[in-house]
Amino acid sequence: KEIKLWGGRFEESVTDAVEKFSESISFDKVLYKQDIMGSRAHATMLAHQGLMTSSDRDSILLGLDEIEKSIEAGKFVWRTDREDVHMNIEAALTDLIGEPAKKLHTARSRNDQVVTDLRLWCRDAIDNILACIKSLQVALITLAKKNEGLIVPGYTHLQRAQPVLLQHLLLSYVEQLERDAGRLIDCRSRLNFCPLGACALAGTGLPIDRFMTSDALGFTAPLRNSIDAVSDRDFVLEILSANSITAVHLSRLGEEWVLWASEEFGFLTPSDAVSTGSSIMPQKKNPDPMELVRGKSARVVGDLMTLLILCKGLPQAYNRDLQEDKEPLFDSVNTIRGMLEVSTEFAQNITFNQERIQKALPSGFLDATTLADYLVNKGVPFRTAHDIVGRSVALGLSANKQLQELTLVELKSINSVFEEDVYEFLGVQNSVKKFCSYGSTGSQCVAEQLNFWVSKLEIK
Ligand code: ARG
Repeated sequence: KEIKLWGGRFEESVTDAVEKFSESISFDKVLYKQDIMGSRAHATMLAHQGLMTSSDRDSILLGLDEIEKSIEAGKFVWRTDREDVHMNIEAALTDLIGEPAKKLHTARSRNDQVVTDLRLWCRDAIDNILACIKSLQVALITLAKKNEGLIVPGYTHLQRAQPVLLQHLLLSYVEQLERDAGRLIDCRSRLNFCPLGACALAGTGLPIDRFMTSDALGFTAPLRNSIDAVSDRDFVLEILSANSITAVHLSRLGEEWVLWASEEFGFLTPSDAVSTGSSIMPQKKNPDPMELVRGKSARVVGDLMTLLILCKGLPQAYNRDLQEDKEPLFDSVNTIRGMLEVSTEFAQNITFNQERIQKALPSGFLDATTLADYLVNKGVPFRTAHDIVGRSVALGLSANKQLQELTLVELKSINSVFEEDVYEFLGVQNSVKKFCSYGSTGSQCVAEQLNFWVSKLEIK
């Protein structure tokens, strides 16, 4: 067995069970790029500070290049007995270039190394998720543009409420996604500080320059406190929280579209390209991708819970428990990206069933609140108007008529304030036209929203 990099004080090697239990190479090898970047910056700084010669630095840099190439070519052998990505790369570098490699870990600990790698990885992950969020926004806006003027029933409590423009509904999801992106952007700027040089926890007596490595790695500045630098994973918690909120938004979109694709609603049809069948029922065409979007939100929220519980009992500075931060982080990021990608494809592959929606609109008294507004315009106090319309709805229900089908005589039998102009307020088409408050479903207001997004996201 190879002697561990930390093996000096040990007389026995670890048992196979302990080795298997404590390795992280099986999942942290994805950090290789960040680990190599960090080592390049660290070696360059060490040479600049006179802590290694420039020829040692050059052989380290060349060696790291070679290792990176061999990893990317799939030729690098990852060894479980070398525990994690950091020791795999350092040991491989020693195998490759010999003595100079032994200087690389000067004024560095895996504690500051791993968290530097992780911050760099999170930075890229956030940029990736942001691009996926934008694609979904663009798909939703494109869908909205295609469906100008289409009115759909708006629901509260999943009961018919008021008529809304489909564009308005689709843009509501775009707004939510914008805040999801905003949370990630905030998180990115807060996490972009450099732990490197914090070493194990206390910093070092060697003359390093933390500002130099921080700059080289594109961080805003080195973290101010070395203990904080190696202790915290709050930046991971922030990404996992932001992802959880995004996941819950997507889950609601999934729920709505699954519902709308049902026979009972029949408001939308996904194309075959985003549907799947049943192994037993030949007639079935299921909206599985959006069901899975809804389902996978559970994992993303679970990943956040894992990390919260992981961190809650830890005394300050590095604890090995923190190795368990990676799998939930990687899972959350991969899952949310998949959810965003599939939601985008679904949005690109659905059609709204105009005819079916038209047929559904007359029932449910969607224009009742507009009728109350009519009475308010006539000077009736709102509470009284609410009661009058309530009684009009009751009359409609007993006569099996929509509000617009009630005659003026019938309406006047409830209250004499009704006049012929009431019919301009009844029926969903008329009703929708009456909305004019800022952010409302009126066609002018929705057109303004749509224009805002088209120009903000530079959609052609
Ligand atoms: N694989 C470890 C992790 O992921 C790296 C840090 C280990 N440090 C230590 N002193 N054992 O957290």
